[in-house]
Amino acid sequence: MHIDRRAFLATLGSATVVEAMSSEARADALEHYMIAQLDKPAAPAAQPLQMRRGTGALFGGPSPSGQRPELTALATMPERPTLVDFIRLRGTPGIGNHILQSASDALKKGEPEETVLACLLHDFVLNLMKPDHGWWGAQMMEPYVSEKVSWAIRHHQALRFYPDPSVGYEYPELYVRIFGKDYVPAPYIKASYESARKHKWYMDARMITVHDLYAFEPGMKVSIDPFMDIIGRNFRQPKEGLGFDGSPVAHMWRTLNYPDNPL
Ligand SMILES: [Fe+2]
Ligand SMILES: [Fe+2]
Repeated sequence: MHIDRRAFLATLGSATVVEAMSSEARADALEHYMIAQLDKPAAPAAQPLQMRRGTGALFGGPSPSGQRPELTALATMPERPTLVDFIRLRGTPGIGNHILQSASDALKKGEPEETVLACLLHDFVLNLMKPDHGWWGAQMMEPYVSEKVSWAIRHHQALRFYPDPSVGYEYPELYVRIFGKDYVPAPYIKASYESARKHKWYMDARMITVHDLYAFEPGMKVSIDPFMDIIGRNFRQPKEGLGFDGSPVAHMWRTLNYPDNPL
């Protein structure tokens, strides 16, 4: 921790007083000062934007399209937040548009409800955490959705790098730009793809990639409203609110709720 020497000395009084103190007394005073500093609120209200830390889009990290969203002040969350509260109040516009567009595409093409839900949730974790978002995202949703939905979210991360002509999925042009022309996915990604390929739920994960649209149509209106019933039927909203239900992933939701609670 950085000690502002002048501010610390000012709490003790004049230089003569400090001179007269024993080294134990000085150490005690320093400790009290440090504890008092730690107890201070981390983010002064005037500058909340500079204080966020983390790697997801909510923290200023890149969105799926590679853009860095502008940091804005966080809205206050209800006491018992629901999935819809998190999507509305803790989602960045870029990721919000992306997941709503994916889910709208799945709905329009008559996919089963679980596929629509998987599309709606597939990249939500990017607001919080960018690396390995398939695994993180699946884990975050796991206690609240069917095993098939979380399995599909986990595996879409690897599947997106591998074409499947049987459903018209090609390697995304955007990835050539992001990852480079000769990009070879890491061995763990390849292994995840190969095991998913043989799995009975392969198509459930594949459908996420099929509806994973990278070009956001300008002017296209997306809304959470068409998905409220699907969420109601397929997402087990805990009555205590996400983050407060004591589940093994509650801390992930709390971190998204309060992104700057370092202690
Ligand atoms: Fe994704
Ligand atoms: Fe996506």
